[in-house]
Amino acid sequence: MNHVALCGAGVSVETADGNLRTILKPTTVELTEQRIAVIGANGSGKSTLLRLLNSLMLPSSGTVTINGLDTRTQGRAVRRQVGFVFTDPLSQLVMPTPLEDIELSLRRVHKSAPERRSAAAGVLEQYGLGALAANSIYELSGGERQLVALATVLAVQPRLLVLDEPSTLLDLRNSRLLRSRLAALPQQLIMATHDLELAQDCTRALVVDDGAIVFDGPAADAVARYRRMYS
Ligand SMILES: Nc1ncnc2c1ncn2[C@@H]1O[C@H](COP(=O)(O)OP(=O)(O)OP(=O)(O)O)[C@@H](O)[C@H]1O
Ligand SMILES: [Mg+2]
Repeated sequence: MNHVALCGAGVSVETADGNLRTILKPTTVELTEQRIAVIGANGSGKSTLLRLLNSLMLPSSGTVTINGLDTRTQGRAVRRQVGFVFTDPLSQLVMPTPLEDIELSLRRVHKSAPERRSAAAGVLEQYGLGALAANSIYELSGGERQLVALATVLAVQPRLLVLDEPSTLLDLRNSRLLRSRLAALPQQLIMATHDLELAQDCTRALVVDDGAIVFDGPAADAVARYRRMYS
């Protein structure tokens, strides 16, 4: 398992009027469980917390380390270990078709183009997306795109998978499929979600409110706490 640690990590951003706004208060937490959910209201800081984990965002104070790698100074090495699945799949899918996108993911793993193509086709088959391989990304439904985006990240078997609201665009069938897929993955998962059923599948959950972790414990207790905050 991985060792993911925030040590006094906080994020402040400059606002339009030139003031500093703290969007994540200095946070110290170790994230070592296999499946961890991050829940909380819109704008509470969930995505900010997740973006720190693969150095998409750097802390303004403190440090973030992944298996001893500092996200500030070793960002490239961190990104090789941490797969990040964005909420909006179009911010992730850059090639015209799913097959080409997976090929792009596999460019380090397979140097030969024909091998890369057949491995990419295999990944799509593995995730039940083979029929969409040559379709235009723009013609896929939102949910199909979200599943393809997940496959592009899983293709390179990251040690840690960070997902920012992976089920928002999915219908009932596909969100169930996603739940069972995620439950079967061997690697560590850290995901922000508004889907409280998905959160309950995790061992541990953090409740984020106004830029701070206000609860950290078993997922069922975290969900109960979150529900109470808004009842
Ligand atoms: N780069 C940035 N510059 C300025 N403000 C930002 C930046 N990134 C995030 N924020 C602000 O920080 C707050 C927390 O944002 P964040 O995206 O982490 O929330 P969230 O919990 O993921 O919300 P949601 O559930 O809506 O996705 C929001 O008020 C957001 O507008
Ligand atoms: Mg978010």
